Amino acid sequence: MTILIVAEISATLTKNQHPDYTVVLGAGLMERKRMIDLKLPATFLCLARAEASKDFGTSSHERRVAALVYRLARQLGLPAGKARQLARAGILHDIGKLAVPVEVLQKTAPLSREEVALIKTHSSAGHHILRMPRNALVNLAAEIALHHHERFDGSGYPNGLVADAIPLPAQITSICDTYDALREDRPYRRGIPHDDTMRIIVNGDNRTKPCHFAPQVLSAFQVISDQAKMIFDTPIEQYAIGGA
Ligand SMILES: [Fe+2]
Ligand SMILES: [Fe+2]
Repeated sequence: MTILIVAEISATLTKNQHPDYTVVLGAGLMERKRMIDLKLPATFLCLARAEASKDFGTSSHERRVAALVYRLARQLGLPAGKARQLARAGILHDIGKLAVPVEVLQKTAPLSREEVALIKTHSSAGHHILRMPRNALVNLAAEIALHHHERFDGSGYPNGLVADAIPLPAQITSICDTYDALREDRPYRRGIPHDDTMRIIVNGDNRTKPCHFAPQVLSAFQVISDQAKMIFDTPIEQYAIGGA
């Protein structure tokens, strides 16, 4: 099913008069008026592509997480402007992987303990790359990069923050990142279908547990799970990435 049509994409991009890039994502044939225009800063998209090219080769994961962050933030009651800021910042959540050796990121065999520890440094590395106190958006991206692997029960990293000590933007990004990471193919396993992914997030498995997420964030994610499926199932070229 074609979710977006070219004319709609072109119209949106034409309207966008500033030099930023745009991520447009339809909510479905019956809901085209609810398209998201993230007005993604071009530099953010380039950075996301640079990081992704070192990891799995595309920035599809980063763009889908950004789109999903917007939906979830809105479901949680955040104003549209704030949700857009979170989505823009969220696209850089894994930027710290630029500091992780490519042999580790692309390894298909099981990782050693040292290699797992190396991968976990990407959250602190991302914060180091983005830390810029005088730029609110970049600073928000730094906060998300640092804390997107924290878990509500305190079992996450890098700081083992518990519950609401984890900034809300990172809580939102965390569950969106988890959903998309489970769904997509990885070098060492096939992607998991939507229904099974939701079962894992809600009921848990040997790695993911519902206690990793704030209860209200998990509830809101369940409400938008159909949108999460739609975002994942939308071919990435229909995300309409382009300059104004
Ligand atoms: Fe990450
Ligand atoms: Fe990620």
